[in-house]
Amino acid sequence: MSEQLDPLKFAYWVPNVSGGLVVSDIEQRTDWSYEYNRKLAVLAEDNGFEYALSQVRYMASYGAAYQQESTSFSLALLLATQRLKVIAAVHPGLWHPGVLAKLVATADHLSDGRAAVNVVSGWFKGEFTALGEPWLEHDERYRRSEEFIRVLRASWTEDEAQFAGDFYRLRGYDLKPKPLTGPGRPHPEIFQGGNSTAARAMAGRVSDWYFSNGKDFDGVTEQIAEVNASAHAHGRTVRFGLNGFLIARDTEAEAKETLREIVAKANPDAVRGFRDAVQQAGSSTGDGKGMWADSSFDDLVQYNDGFRSKLIGTPEQIAHRLVAYRKLGVNLALLGFLHYHEEVEYFGKHVLPIVRALELEADRGAATVEPLGV
Ligand SMILES: Cc1cc2nc3c(=O)[nH]c(=O)nc-3n(C[C@H](O)[C@H](O)[C@H](O)COP(=O)(O)O)c2cc1C
Repeated sequence: MSEQLDPLKFAYWVPNVSGGLVVSDIEQRTDWSYEYNRKLAVLAEDNGFEYALSQVRYMASYGAAYQQESTSFSLALLLATQRLKVIAAVHPGLWHPGVLAKLVATADHLSDGRAAVNVVSGWFKGEFTALGEPWLEHDERYRRSEEFIRVLRASWTEDEAQFAGDFYRLRGYDLKPKPLTGPGRPHPEIFQGGNSTAARAMAGRVSDWYFSNGKDFDGVTEQIAEVNASAHAHGRTVRFGLNGFLIARDTEAEAKETLREIVAKANPDAVRGFRDAVQQAGSSTGDGKGMWADSSFDDLVQYNDGFRSKLIGTPEQIAHRLVAYRKLGVNLALLGFLHYHEEVEYFGKHVLPIVRALELEADRGAATVEPLGV
């Protein structure tokens, strides 16, 4: 009998910015409108998705000409669904965390306890500049994000909360009603995006979940070890979510051909512009561990290195790979798709049942969870 692990959880990236999840001129049937997203959210919760993650972007940048705001859009999706938990991405520096805590507490009551946040420290300097806000140096952004998370948690769990930090202060902030609580959920879940050394250390200290950009097995293993070490040092546990762009087709050849076409039709100026922007954002870390530090042109055609997780092939191949990631300590797969409506349904019908069967076998110690030739 081998170790019992929880079933792998699934989240999808909400396509709330235009242009889909790839910087490519390939035909995409994905749409950023509310109507498309409302239907998608219902499809997703009926096809095995527990979470949806909305993106925050304030202005056009490297594709993404139009953007729907993350907190309001997330609330709309919560109200359109029954079970889906919706994670709204937010930037410290552009919100007072006590105000955001209030907004999320209300969203939590409106949705029967399904609201969550993804604290992102930011890569897009132009956005901050356009809004007239300072663009802090990389590790200062993380110091601010950590205070931000501490203020969120204090606002949600303490009466007359007090906080005295370098970036934020609370002086008897009495948020009522508190958000809903449940087993293992003392407050709305706090996710974070960011993979640098500062991000890993912060996750160990304050985050509930750590999101990784797309990675192979070695990349995931290295991050899980480091985040867990930081968490254990603080007597905490942090759960791990991995990004992947999933292309499941009836044959491996079809899946690979789709990937080839996405990359062949990449918009080179947008990809290079994105690369320059994200690499300046991470350059002050020095140790080369931030997201995108070693991304190739092809990797960057998917904003979050999603091809590197290699969830590309037949349902069988992808399911084996997902279960192998679970064995390494991944708790949640955060997925992007080319044609969301069709592919989320295909995932639920063809990939998910194999994942669940392999999990049972793996938990009995019987499964071969090595990847199958992808
Ligand atoms: C899963 C995930 C989601 C993210 N979503 C956003 C987002 O919606 N908006 C944004 O500006 N940055 C987003 N980011 C990027 C972060 O703001 C940050 O720039 C990036 O993680 C680089 O951090 P690092 O230098 O610590 O690796 C996201 C990152 C991850 C991993």
